[in-house]
Amino acid sequence: MNKKSAEPRVQEQLCRDVERVLFSADEIQDRVRGLGKQIDERYAGKELLLIAILKGSVVFIADLMRAITIPHEVDFLATSSYGASTSSTGIVRILKDLNEPIGGRHALLVEDIIDSGHTLAYLTRLFSARNPASLEVVTLLDKPSRREVEIDLFWTGFSVPDEFVIGYGLDFNQKYRNLPYIGVLKSEVYQPGSE
Ligand code: IMP
Ligand code: MG
Repeated sequence: MNKKSAEPRVQEQLCRDVERVLFSADEIQDRVRGLGKQIDERYAGKELLLIAILKGSVVFIADLMRAITIPHEVDFLATSSYGASTSSTGIVRILKDLNEPIGGRHALLVEDIIDSGHTLAYLTRLFSARNPASLEVVTLLDKPSRREVEIDLFWTGFSVPDEFVIGYGLDFNQKYRNLPYIGVLKSEVYQPGSE
C-alpha cells in the first residue's frame, strides 16, 4: 500500500471504488512543479503554446501552467473518448479543433495518459502537418506496457502499471475526475461480477 494513503486526509477522501492510491495530491504537485521547471528551461525565449487534450488533461494543465513561469498561451482540443469502455479503439475523432493556427509556434501537447499511443500518434501527425516550429508532448502518466504505436519526444510525470487509473482529471465513464489523487479503479466497477 502506498504509505501516503495512510494519511487521515487521504483516507477520508478515499473513494470506495478506488483499489489503492498510486500518487497522492502532494506527490503530484511536486512532480508537476518539476515538469514546469523543465519546460521553463526548454522553452525560454520561445513562443510556447500549451495544447490541452480535453477533458482528461484539464486538471493537469491548470496546475502545470501555473508551474511554468515563462510567458505562454493555452489552447484546447477535444477528441472522442472511450465511452464506458477501458481500452482504446485506435479510432480518434476531433470533436473540437484548436482556436488558433500553430504554424511557426512551439506547440506542447498536454495529455493525461499515454496508453496504446493511438490518440497521440494521430494528433502528432495532424499537428505536424500544420508546420509548428516544434511539436512535443508532456504527459502526466505513461502506461508503457500497453503501447501499440511508438510515440517520441515526450516527457512523463509518472509511469503506471497496466491497470485502469482514475482521479486528477482522469475518468471512468466521465466520473472520478475530481479525486485529488491518482488511484487504481476497482475492477468490479468496470467488470461487474469479477470480485
Ligand atoms: P491511447 O490512445 O490508448 O493512448 O489512450 C489515450 C486516452 O485514453 C487517454 O488520453 C485517456 O483519456 C484514456 N485512458 C487511457 N488509459 C486510461 C486510464 O487508465 N484511465 C483513464 N483514462 C485512460
Ligand atoms: Mg486523454
